[in-house]
Amino acid sequence: MAKTIQAIRGMNDILPDQSPAWQFVEGVLRQVAASYTYQEIRMPVLESTDLFKRSIGEVTDIVEKEMYTFDDRNGDSLTLRPEGTASCVRAGNEHGLLYNQTQRLWYMGPMFRHERPQKGRYRQFHQFGIEAFGMEGPDIDAEVILLSARLWQQFGISDQVELQLNSLASNEARARYRDALREFLRAHEDQLDEDSKRRLDTNVLRVLDSKSPETQQVLENAPKLSEYWDDESRAHFDGLCQRLDAAGIKYVLNERLVRGLDYYNRTVFEWVTTELGAQGTVCAGGRYDGLVEQLGGKATPAVGFAMGIERLVLLLASQDKIPATQTVDVYVIALNEAAELKAPAVAEQLRNEQQGLRVQLHSGSQNMKKKLAKADKSGAEYAVIIRDDDFEIKHLRDRDQVDRSAATIADVITLVANKEA
Ligand code: HAM
Repeated sequence: MAKTIQAIRGMNDILPDQSPAWQFVEGVLRQVAASYTYQEIRMPVLESTDLFKRSIGEVTDIVEKEMYTFDDRNGDSLTLRPEGTASCVRAGNEHGLLYNQTQRLWYMGPMFRHERPQKGRYRQFHQFGIEAFGMEGPDIDAEVILLSARLWQQFGISDQVELQLNSLASNEARARYRDALREFLRAHEDQLDEDSKRRLDTNVLRVLDSKSPETQQVLENAPKLSEYWDDESRAHFDGLCQRLDAAGIKYVLNERLVRGLDYYNRTVFEWVTTELGAQGTVCAGGRYDGLVEQLGGKATPAVGFAMGIERLVLLLASQDKIPATQTVDVYVIALNEAAELKAPAVAEQLRNEQQGLRVQLHSGSQNMKKKLAKADKSGAEYAVIIRDDDFEIKHLRDRDQVDRSAATIADVITLVANKEA
């Protein structure tokens, strides 16, 4: 036998028994996005490598070590998108969607990062993302957070997620804080983990993210970002908190929340759960007022988030919040060879009579007992047996119901649709 070929590590198939959960989740995401009047945008999965270098930042984990980058046949450097924000801004600039106007956009699709795979962390994963452009007030930060909060509510997992908030303030304020933090950490360099030592020069804010207990210990006495907030950023943050309070959204201030992508300023937030082990961030985002201009557009404020759909599906499954689905309504069986010839046409007529009715036609010529066993296994509500001149309708889920006969397809529909015969 030929050697079988396996999927690439960290890239998952979503199998037929999992896809109903995905469809359920995607349906809710679409519906909630629409209820806030966000419109879908679909971007390509491949972009020029420069796009991500210029937006996410050269000295970030994503750009330094996680991108799937290759030269195409023309010698151009391309990258499989590691996230959607950069592509969304690129598309907005390219098609004039952002110039002097507001946009509320959402997207959903695969992203690619060469990370070490584990539960909740994959190399191909899926994000649902929201991006709002052209609005600078804290009301729109509140809107995107409320949208995410509505999702948890709709899914019934509000108690399983916690909102963490911070402000990265203005670029100038952050630069001053960076200097102060670097100076402080230099004085304790020998107590820092290797990664953090390296980040002192390259991306000192990420030291705040360090998982090392020793580094975290040092950080206890480090200067705080909020001590460096500029007045406008503080007012913006207060404005956001007031709106969240008024809407009854709970949050905690996490001064060490800095995010792993360089484009953020002011508001940053993450929704975190303790139910998924190490990969507990289900949704993350913030404001990125400089990115549109940085990528060649006119200066345009923006805010958004992305959630990991795999993590959301895992969280929902852990809380038993994925509704059971049925894929077959009616299972069609032929009683004999003559009926077998009519069976495909009968199944078609059933689908014609009632739009959306899910009809599975039995294939193969086993005996009736086996056919009925298959009908039962399909999960169908009814088996329709085609006899010589009429049909027999069997209730597969409710054995107390008596089997009925029907003379025509219309009668069959009346019975399976539970209407009065
Ligand atoms: P991010 O924090 O890099 O932000 O990713 C957002 C979410 O995507 C994470 O919180 C997580 O749920 C999911 N995620 C990230 N990497 C993986 C992975 N390897 N496997 C599974 N899930 C993963 C962004 O991507 C920003 N573009 C978010 C944003 C939009 N900010 C503003 N607008």
